[in-house]
Order: sequence, then structure tokens, then C-alpha cells
Amino acid sequence: MKICMIGTGYVGLVSGVCFSDIGNDVVCVDRDIKKIENLKKGIIPIYEPGLEELVLKNYKNNRLKFSTNLKESISKSDIIFICVGTPTKKNGNGADLSQIFNVAQEIRSSISKFKIIITKSTVPVTTGDEIEKIILHKVSKKLFSVVSNPEFLREGEAIRDFTYPDRVVVGTNDKKSNTVLKNLYSPLISKGAKYVNCSRRAAELTKYASNAFLATKITFINELANLCEKLDVNIEDISIGMGLDKRIGGRFLRAGPAYGGSCFPKDTKAIASTADKFKTNLSIIKSVIKSNENRSSLLLKRVFDILKGKIKNKKICFLGVTFKANTDDMRDSSCLTMIPSLIKKGALINYFDPTGEKKEFKNKKNVNFSKNINSAIKNSDLIIIHTEWNDFKSINFKKIVQNKKFRIFDMRNIYAPKKMKDQKIKYFAIGR
Ligand code: UDX
Repeated sequence: MKICMIGTGYVGLVSGVCFSDIGNDVVCVDRDIKKIENLKKGIIPIYEPGLEELVLKNYKNNRLKFSTNLKESISKSDIIFICVGTPTKKNGNGADLSQIFNVAQEIRSSISKFKIIITKSTVPVTTGDEIEKIILHKVSKKLFSVVSNPEFLREGEAIRDFTYPDRVVVGTNDKKSNTVLKNLYSPLISKGAKYVNCSRRAAELTKYASNAFLATKITFINELANLCEKLDVNIEDISIGMGLDKRIGGRFLRAGPAYGGSCFPKDTKAIASTADKFKTNLSIIKSVIKSNENRSSLLLKRVFDILKGKIKNKKICFLGVTFKANTDDMRDSSCLTMIPSLIKKGALINYFDPTGEKKEFKNKKNVNFSKNINSAIKNSDLIIIHTEWNDFKSINFKKIVQNKKFRIFDMRNIYAPKKMKDQKIKYFAIGR
């Protein structure tokens, strides 16, 4: 099929490349000329394992194209995916849909024959209705249909999550569109993915509800970890004991720092704000938002206790600063609150991240990027393991760290407390 992806961020680029890899003709459109020129040269704007090879392969066999010409790309395509950003509004409540509505206006002036217009961006419930109204101003109802087809891609696993999804959710009551989408996704369905057809609003809500539930699950285990620390219980025993119940499931039950990323913080706020607009109080999700926002200050207090209240001039090393491993994304990473707060208390911060130096900390006083793990940790008083990169999983701390009284705060529970104790390392973790 002929597909146009509007927006070449995490969602648009990954989905577009993967659609081309299963045999479709795809054009990825972006208004950022530099980004499109780079993509044509095989320069990928995001860190996503395996993406570069997939782009090169499909660009070479001509199934994947890049363009800045939206009108022309739409006219040549039958299916139009809207994959532009829906960031949280500046006032913190709800999603900013300006990019979505701008694109809808551009689409309506490019329709001359039947098009299926699909929102893949995460959009609040009823956005599809708004898009339909915008296009109806200029285009007959017979010439288009607006469908919701949310993505469930995790950064760092996006290609795998696209290729082997648990389910494909398609929100439309239009039979013709449903048939087209079922055909489009048939290569994934034949590999075991479930195809779910529901109303457009149900599909929009399913996306938010899924992310909000995952955020709830993580926050639940994070709060249980706080209790475990008081009871001298290992939170990992609880995660395993709970997770073996098929009704609960073991995934997303790993205690750690506050959750971050471009989705959970944004989507939990957006669904709560939508509910408020419709006079419904989603009190559980609101408490998850609050609990997660408090988590970084809670872990900072732990840092304070570990250093016996003496932060000034202490050398603290962060191993990993992105919101999780296998990504370069700093959006809502808990480091963005923890590091400035430690600096304010006079700490000297070193950090290493496999994805390189971060602009968020460039030229920040007392925050230095180290080129490798050894130079990052060797003079540390405290080493904070913030993300669970494989690179951090077998470090010989005793051999590398010069200060014999160094401490480790393992925020991802990567190491076994007993092994640390046997090496006489002062080791602290989460919920253990
Ligand atoms: C998430 C959803 O998983 C994905 O389906 C949706 O499409 C986009 O949002 P992503 O934000 O890329 O994906 O990352 P994810 O792997 O879900 O992790 C989100 C946050 O939860 C990270 O900060 C991660 O460290 C944290 N997390 C995840 C935990 O703390 N514990 C866990 O067990 C899992």
C-alpha cells in the first residue's frame, strides 16, 4: 500500500520504516528540511537500536522515501498517518494539539480522492472528532475517514514492539477503512498479533489507559519498595511472588527511580485532564502522578542519608542519565531533578552515559561528562547507578575506585547485595 507518515520522530520514523520493511511504499514527511536531508544520507535523528540498518535497507530498495512536500506526498498516498508531537501544554495540563490541527488543515487542502487519515500520535479522546470537523469544512465526508491507530512502542525496543505487537488497535466504525487496516497489518497478525477493531474514541482511550496503567503498576511497586526498606524485605521477592499471578504479570514490576520518558508523565497528565473536562475524577491516576513527582525528592533524601548528611564537595558519579537504558532520550529523566538539586547542595557531579554527553548538563558548573566508566567512578565518594545499561552490570568497583570508603546507590537493583557485602562494599539499593 502507499503510505504517507507525517512526522519523523520516534513514532513516525520507526513506524514508517517498519511499514516499508513489510512491503509497503512509504514516504516519511517532515517540515524540518535538515532532518529530511540527513535521513536521505542515512543520518538517523534518534537513538533506536537497529533503526539505521532498516532505514538504509528500505531506502536503497526504494520502498522508503523522505520528503518535505506534504501536499505531493499526500496526493500519492492512500493512507495518511499523523505522527506529529502532542507535548504537555506549558500550563502542565493536557496535551498541546496545535501540531495535530495544523496538519489536519494541511491534509484537507490536499485531498482529491478517498484517503484514510490515521492518528498514530497519542491524542486525547475526541481528537479524531475534531480532526474530522476540520477536514469536513472543505472536503466531502465521502472522500475521507479518520481512524485512530495508537502505537505501543517502547523506546529502545521500538522495532521489536512494532514487529511483534501484542495487539493492533484500530478505532473506526467505517467498514472499508477497517478492511484496509486489517490488510495493512496482516503480516503482523499472521505472526500472532491480535487485531482489535473498536470505536475511534475507544482506541484513543485505550492508548492513554494502557500507559496510565503501566505507570500505576510501576508506581505501585516503587511505593511497595519504600515499605520493604522499612521491613527489611527484598522487593524483588515481592515482584516475583506477585508477577507469577497471571492476572498481575511480572513485567513493569521492577522498582527503580521515578519513571520518566516522553510518554508516561505526559499521558497520565493528559488522561486526568481529559477526565476533569468531562467531570470525572481519575483519583488513582492523579495519585500516581503525585507519587512519581515526589519520588525523586524521596531518593535524594536517601542519597543524603547514605552520605550521612554531608553533600558539600562530595564527588557523586551518575552511571546513566537518560530516563532508562537503551535510549538517548532525556525527557523527564529523574536526573533532571536529582542532579541540579545535588549541585545546589555543593556536590561535585561526574556522569557517564553510553549515548554520550547531554546538552542538558553541558557547561553546567560542577557537572562533568566522563568519556568512560572507569574515569567516571574512580574518584567517587558515591556511585549512583541510574539506568540499567548492560555496560554497568559487571564493573569491578573495588579495583577501579580509589576512595576505599566509596558507596554505591544502585537505583536499578542491578547488583546482588550479598556479592557487594562479600566485597565489603557499602551498597544501597531500592527496596532491598
Ligand atoms: C512507554 C510504553 O511502554 C509504550 O508502550 C508507549 O508506547 C510509550 O511509553 P517508553 O516511555 O519508551 O514506553 O518506556 P518504558 O520502557 O515503558 O519505561 C517508561 C519508564 O518506566 C522508564 O522511566 C522506565 O525506567 C520505567 N520502568 C519501566 C520502571 O521503572 N520499571 C519497570 O519495570 C519498567
